[in-house]
Amino acid sequence: MGRFYITTPIYYVNDAPHVGHAYCTVNADALARWHRLIGDETKFLTGTDEHGQKVADAAEQHGLSAQDWTNQTSARFREAWDALDISYDDFIRTTEPRHYESVQKFLTAIYDNGYIYKDVYKGLYCVSCEDYFTLESSDEGRCPIHGRALTEMEEENWFFRLSAFQDRLLEYYERHPEFVTPETKRNEALSFIKGGLHDISITRTSISWGVPVPWDDRHVFYVWYDALINYLTAIGYGRDDDEVDTWWPSSHHLIGKEIIRFHCVWWPAMCMAAGLEPPSHVQVHGWLLVGGQKLSKTMAAEGGVRLSDIAPVQLTNEFGIDPIRYYLLRETILGNDGDFSHEGITLRYNSDLANNLGNLVARVTTVVGSKCGGRGPAPQMQSPLRTEAEMAISETKAAWGRFAPQGALEATWRLIGATNAYLEEHAPWKMEPGPELDAVMGDALEAIRLVAILCSPAMPGVAVEIWRRIGLSGSPTDRVVDESAQWGQYSAGAPVEKGEPLFPRMKSDE
Ligand code: ME8
Ligand code: MG
Repeated sequence: MGRFYITTPIYYVNDAPHVGHAYCTVNADALARWHRLIGDETKFLTGTDEHGQKVADAAEQHGLSAQDWTNQTSARFREAWDALDISYDDFIRTTEPRHYESVQKFLTAIYDNGYIYKDVYKGLYCVSCEDYFTLESSDEGRCPIHGRALTEMEEENWFFRLSAFQDRLLEYYERHPEFVTPETKRNEALSFIKGGLHDISITRTSISWGVPVPWDDRHVFYVWYDALINYLTAIGYGRDDDEVDTWWPSSHHLIGKEIIRFHCVWWPAMCMAAGLEPPSHVQVHGWLLVGGQKLSKTMAAEGGVRLSDIAPVQLTNEFGIDPIRYYLLRETILGNDGDFSHEGITLRYNSDLANNLGNLVARVTTVVGSKCGGRGPAPQMQSPLRTEAEMAISETKAAWGRFAPQGALEATWRLIGATNAYLEEHAPWKMEPGPELDAVMGDALEAIRLVAILCSPAMPGVAVEIWRRIGLSGSPTDRVVDESAQWGQYSAGAPVEKGEPLFPRMKSDE
């Protein structure tokens, strides 16, 4: 058994959570649940990024103090995660005292190691990105991502000597080929590094909404510079060295592709500068697109996409928690961009959930009710379905292990398909009650039991409900998967319940 420390980016609290945030958080949640299921000691961290110009501006626009505004908005992220059944172990807010303490200790270590110096900063700034540009990297003075005019800035600032880390970063990438996945994103990070690294301005005097610089109280840290450290705050950096030693070697950051440079270049260099190993792995995911455009708060504000239509809570109200989780995990390969649409959800729902999984459970529970006296028969130890199940189990395990929820669900659904085909072949609804029928139904119940276990990281509520309907006690996650996902454990004689359809069919708009 190992350890697994997984994090999401901490989300800016300038506005409410949307389904793009949910995409990342649901993927992290499913991965955390999988690792708990294989018996790993697991810590799952998410939270909110509460400093910086963008958040300060939003607070002002709403006539609130920055702290009042962040309190309100951070709570909305927690509500969204509750609505999506997110099993985080810790929710960090960068305005918490524990974070100030870790940030100040971490950056003082970098300062003491000689990697921070004072200079005059001149450049262009995008508040939406909270990022600097040069004239060359800008789109003729506009932000290449948001299209807004960039603000000219000139300040005396503290700088981090990022340029000193080019060789060490390249060497780290060389020695850790799996540091950034997928490979295309690793190459993107590598090309940033090979393109040459400039020192970065890490403090501001123009705003006060930030973590104070311990050695110069006129400055606060630049928001990215405090934000990244959240991953260490949550495991006790500067407060509990044993905790850091326990979790840091098993750290996995799940991030969107627009923040590769921060996580795959700056962050490992910052760790090195502070005398710490970089995180062990960064898994990059792509963007959910609506009509080909990244779903972002800024674009919504400009009238591009109506985010109010795609708030996570509205989606779960409309489709149910687990169907939305399933859609987010199943539709897009982690690392690729994907299209998000209500029609897409409806299609997935009707085909994979209503027609395949829901139909399987309904058929089996109905026949057991009408022809087996409502008691589940025993599975056969020799069964053609056993081979299918064993293949699905090993493919599902392998896929979760390589951060591929989409592939894992595909493999699990092959077992659902094989079981439905097995039922069609034998047509138990036409068979007379007796040992032959019992054998078919026992096999099908066993396959359903295995499906409940294997889909539990994606659909925790549905998994428990299926488990209950086929009459099993406890829950599909009570035992580690290596023990429970072995053919032949369905307990014969269990009371099987038909119940309402698990996934009533949705009307499609087309
Ligand atoms: O960048 N598709 O916060 P943020 C998929 N505070 N994922 C999306 C998405 C979309 N359309 N839109 C957002 C920040 N995301 C910083 C992070 S970490 C130390 C600091 C997800 O509120 C995706 O995971 O802009 C992306 O990386 C994250 O939200 C950015 O959220
Ligand atoms: Mg963003």
